[in-house]
Amino acid sequence: MNDSPIGIFDSGIGGLTVARAIIDQLPNEELFYIGDTAHTPYGDKPLAKVREYALGVMDELVEHDVKMLVIACNTATAAVLADARERYSVPVLEVIKPAVRRAVSVTHNKRIGVIGTRATVKSGAYQDAFSAALDVHVEAAACPRFVEFLESGTDSGEEVLAAAEEYLAPLKAAGVDTLVLGCTHYPLLAGVISYVMGPDVTLVSSSEETAIDVYRTLQGENLMRTAATAPSHIFAETAPRVGRTSNFARLSQRFLGPAITHTTSIPAREENA
Ligand code: DGL
Repeated sequence: MNDSPIGIFDSGIGGLTVARAIIDQLPNEELFYIGDTAHTPYGDKPLAKVREYALGVMDELVEHDVKMLVIACNTATAAVLADARERYSVPVLEVIKPAVRRAVSVTHNKRIGVIGTRATVKSGAYQDAFSAALDVHVEAAACPRFVEFLESGTDSGEEVLAAAEEYLAPLKAAGVDTLVLGCTHYPLLAGVISYVMGPDVTLVSSSEETAIDVYRTLQGENLMRTAATAPSHIFAETAPRVGRTSNFARLSQRFLGPAITHTTSIPAREENA
């Protein structure tokens, strides 16, 4: 089991920000990553649908004998975390609690902003996770076009800046000093987000904190990879819907660089028990 890969997934390329942090912190571990291109984006779908898609991807990963599952997607975490922990015998890690923990430790004025997909914001998952922290005021906003921009290969330009200004205006007005990037795609837009929020606002992404949890769990459960050979990662996407082109290979290579040796395509699962 120790030498099995860590299974990790997202609706697309966003989870690569978490994969990057895991590779950095645990360079001897092997990853099996799935971007669910067939069903991206998750953030504008009902949570029940996201749950079905996410379980399909996790079933696939578990069938490939992964030793751990990392839900590298806030929307899927909100939709399926509790179910996944019941359904699988391997540890299931997520991205919301790690980001909340970090945000609570860095805020000075206890006014914290959260940006995410519509589904994540509507689910109240962040608001619930913050409710354990006393005296914290949380202001949440959905930024639906951010994922659309990134998945189509646009990460800068006037249109992105204008969207960021519009989405972030209420958070600036609320005087937050800490902003949680509550979607794993958003660290890829950290430059424009920070530019709009200003230098006094600390951005918190779940990537590093989630990788810390991965490390802690592997160590605690005695699951660290022992093989001396270099890890050989797999980065797969579910096949895009007919008529849609995928940017997964190009974008994943750009964001992860030489860590990717090849990408592949697997059939999407539509149904789940
Ligand atoms: N990256 C995902 C998240 O963290 C979802 C983006 C999407 O598919 O809408 O929520």
